[in-house]
Amino acid sequence: MTQIVHATNKIAVLGTGIMGAAIACNLQKNGFNVSAWNRTYEKAKNLEEFGVTVHEYVQDAVSNADIILTMLKDGDSVLKVINSALPSLSKGTIWIQSSTVGITANEQLETFAAENGLKYFDAPVQGTKGPAEQGKLIIIASGPLSDRNTVQSIFDAIGQRTVWVSEQSGMSSKLKLALNSWAFALTHGIAESLSIAKALGVDPSLVIDVVKGGPMDNMYFQLKSTAIISGNYDASFSLDNAVKDSELVIDASKRAGVKVDGVEAGLERFKRAQQAGHGSKDMVATYFAK
Ligand SMILES: NC(=O)c1ccc[n+]([C@@H]2O[C@H](COP(=O)([O-])OP(=O)(O)OC[C@H]3O[C@@H](n4cnc5c(N)ncnc54)[C@H](OP(=O)(O)O)[C@@H]3O)[C@@H](O)[C@H]2O)c1
Repeated sequence: MTQIVHATNKIAVLGTGIMGAAIACNLQKNGFNVSAWNRTYEKAKNLEEFGVTVHEYVQDAVSNADIILTMLKDGDSVLKVINSALPSLSKGTIWIQSSTVGITANEQLETFAAENGLKYFDAPVQGTKGPAEQGKLIIIASGPLSDRNTVQSIFDAIGQRTVWVSEQSGMSSKLKLALNSWAFALTHGIAESLSIAKALGVDPSLVIDVVKGGPMDNMYFQLKSTAIISGNYDASFSLDNAVKDSELVIDASKRAGVKVDGVEAGLERFKRAQQAGHGSKDMVATYFAK
């Protein structure tokens, strides 16, 4: 197989959690020269077997990188990490910011980029662990027209599709909040439906049987309901991050004058499951909310 060589190919991935690790591997597999950094160095070490160069210090990871991609928990962690990286970043470096940070933090990060001569792309992603590993994410991208070809080659390596939302940063972060509201509604709906069946003494797997192939069926329903029935709560999207993102949705919606009763009730469910010790599990552990 001929290895693709990209014109701009040195990329630093900062944050190698569930999503960042998969993204780093796919970039390396697709001909990019990837260096990675993670707060907990040991967790990133296994990426070396996929050819990724793992650094203990963020400044080492970004020095010589043409492009950096942040995939961290939230706005605060991204700001902290980018600040630490700054002394080793060259002016004109492209910064793809893919963590879900919400509107206010995105504005702060965009301002930071402008003040420090970085070319900023607001590019959260749709899709969870499986699609990330398969290079099938959907990239929700906003940023300047210049450099789009360069960043598109990165998006093509990690995703099945890019939706270009706007030249204006922030629009993607806004769209991501609307999408998360739908993901949370589905997740709670599935968990509650199976809980009700169980509490009423009906086999919960009959819910799956009845829905199968009908208009309420979808791949997400199948995946998450099967996870609950089989007791597999390995995180694709952690419940802790679902709490964070529910709060971002509620905050943005309030400011925009939209009542989001479903997301607010869902946040309470997530929090109850979190307090019961299920925060690091998949968000479908909302099933355990008592
Ligand atoms: N998983 C999904 O399905 C999914 C889908 C779309 C978007 N997202 C979003 O993508 C981002 C990453 O998600 P993920 O699932 O990969 O999360 P994750 O597995 O929880 O990873 C979080 C990453 O952030 C790092 N981090 C956390 N707090 C930090 C801090 N204070 N300083 C520096 N680094 C810090 C973690 O480092 P350590 O390893 O040291 O803890 C880890 O690298 C989140 O914004 C999430 O909302 C996730």
